[in-house]
Amino acid sequence: MLVNGRHYLTVWREGSTVRMIDQNLLPFRFQVFDAADHRATAAAIRDMTTRGAGAIGTAAGFAVAQAAGEAPADAAGFEAYVQAAAALVRATRPTARNLFYAVDRVLAAALAALPDIAGARSAACAAADAMAREDAETGRLIGEAGSPLIQDGARVLTHCNAGWLAFTDWGTALSPIYTAARAGRRAFVWVDETRPRLQGARLTAWELSGEGIDFRVIPDNAAGYFMRRKEVDLVIVGADRIAANGDVANKIGTYEKAVLARENGIPFYVAAPFSTVDVDCPNGDAIPIEERGEEEVLNATGPDAEGTLRTLRVVSPGARARNPAFDVTPAALVKGIITERGVVSAGEIAARARDAARAS
Ligand code: MRU
Repeated sequence: MLVNGRHYLTVWREGSTVRMIDQNLLPFRFQVFDAADHRATAAAIRDMTTRGAGAIGTAAGFAVAQAAGEAPADAAGFEAYVQAAAALVRATRPTARNLFYAVDRVLAAALAALPDIAGARSAACAAADAMAREDAETGRLIGEAGSPLIQDGARVLTHCNAGWLAFTDWGTALSPIYTAARAGRRAFVWVDETRPRLQGARLTAWELSGEGIDFRVIPDNAAGYFMRRKEVDLVIVGADRIAANGDVANKIGTYEKAVLARENGIPFYVAAPFSTVDVDCPNGDAIPIEERGEEEVLNATGPDAEGTLRTLRVVSPGARARNPAFDVTPAALVKGIITERGVVSAGEIAARARDAARAS
């Protein structure tokens, strides 16, 4: 996608360096962060310099490729080093399926080439690069598959950021809107602010501004107000992991939007590639949910009058907080899942994901 007229990916590899748009600084500062080794890339996933299921999947794949480049040149030492790196990356964030999918795929490519160390290094890079390309391409295809849902003048509510910043490019929930806009259909987007990290208010708002799409940021607790006033035509959100029965884990607050949508007769869609589907996970209760530190709830960060980012406490001194990062929306509340191969019902998502895996 374009930033000031220049095409950027969200995360990319240049030799042994992994480069990424620093999402902790957006929208107040646009800066590229360079991770020189796999430990720096893992740390950038953990502290959310890069975030969003697809983007952390791409970064995770690159981290394992970096580790393959750093590893000792004997087969046993190589394997031990790369396995330890894979474990480090897996431990960064537990919920997004794409991260585990990427680590496993790049690791398998590297180990399959042993004892040829040079071959293992280049196989790891090739697998990571291929996954980055696939992530961008599936986002584009999700845009094509979902764009017929966006009628001219449609008012779409979205939660968190499932745009190009959450993937290598294009995104999921926002991709149908971008595709419809390129086809000349206007869309209006209600952007949930998405406390506590404000991915909607900060990242989705910045993305939509750049794309020239009309939107308003709303407090997280205002969605029901606008739905009941019939000012929302459909909801589209992304997903971090979809269980075999179609239950969907996504950013905290998604579940209540789905309940509100059902109550108000509004179609609730999830947009996600098949790499987000965990066919080994029977249902939403089995999806590991990340709980982040309470300081994200207790404090808020933004620029002061001079533009310096400051963190201020916004909660009563001494109060404690809880900070679950994701929740689970039952399959029954999902009207359809917009995939790279069309819109699929939640109940058939596992079968379709298996078909897609066999075909690739
Ligand atoms: O904690 P984040 O910002 O990584 O969470 C991101 C989301 O929940 C997105 O909605 C999700 O990844 C779906 S789109 C990739």
